[in-house]
Amino acid sequence: MTNNNMYFVANWKMYGNQSSISSINNVIKLTKDKKFRKIRIVYCPPFTLLRSFVEKTKNSKIYVGAQNCHYEIEYGPHTGFINSKMIKDSGSKFVILGHSESRREGDQDKIINKKIKSALSSNLKIIFCIGETFNEKKNNQTKFVLNKQINVGLEKIKNFKNIIVAYEPVWSIGTGIIPKNVELIENINFIRNKLNKLKNGKKIKILYGGSVNSKNIKNLTAISEINGFIVGGASLNSKKFIDIIKKSIN
Ligand code: PGA
Repeated sequence: MTNNNMYFVANWKMYGNQSSISSINNVIKLTKDKKFRKIRIVYCPPFTLLRSFVEKTKNSKIYVGAQNCHYEIEYGPHTGFINSKMIKDSGSKFVILGHSESRREGDQDKIINKKIKSALSSNLKIIFCIGETFNEKKNNQTKFVLNKQINVGLEKIKNFKNIIVAYEPVWSIGTGIIPKNVELIENINFIRNKLNKLKNGKKIKILYGGSVNSKNIKNLTAISEINGFIVGGASLNSKKFIDIIKKSIN
């Protein structure tokens, strides 16, 4: 398969400040190269940097996304939170929802479903993360968990045009350990088959996230059902991020 139009989502988590912004100069440069014109790079910095990233990337093909949002669509008394309208207003086009680090802070499937609906109504594209913990994997519950996360997370949603699903095994995030190929293929295929059963679900892209780096990327891109990657730690260093992108493209 040709993987020219893959997604590369840089999840900066709770890292970065104003002086980190110039570190993406080389990534902006890369997107001007014809060879990479079809790839989709999405930077997801912390909320405080969204606007600066939008400004910085405005003449490039790089998109900007937030890492979470409140489930309330309307403005309201929710101290410490921001809603999908505010993200849209910042000029960002994407939002990550259901990331395991947000689930750890209390986001449950039902809340994530509300957040997805809110983000859809604000016309954002959603990167919907799912994945099993190490214990769930050990107890052979992976498919059960993925099934539930998809069922509840996408409940009563009819239009999937703006939804991307990211498979991120929790035990792989930040650990340097990635699933064995057979295991990954099996889980990605499980997700693919499940999404295919939804009306127009065949078009939903599936990303992989969890310890993606320049050493394991070749192996990962060999799995044709993967349409792109969420890169955490390695995306903070633009040299490493570029290396990952370059090695992914034929
Ligand atoms: P990692 O993070 O690449 O540092 O494992 C990925 C993620 O949390 O999305």
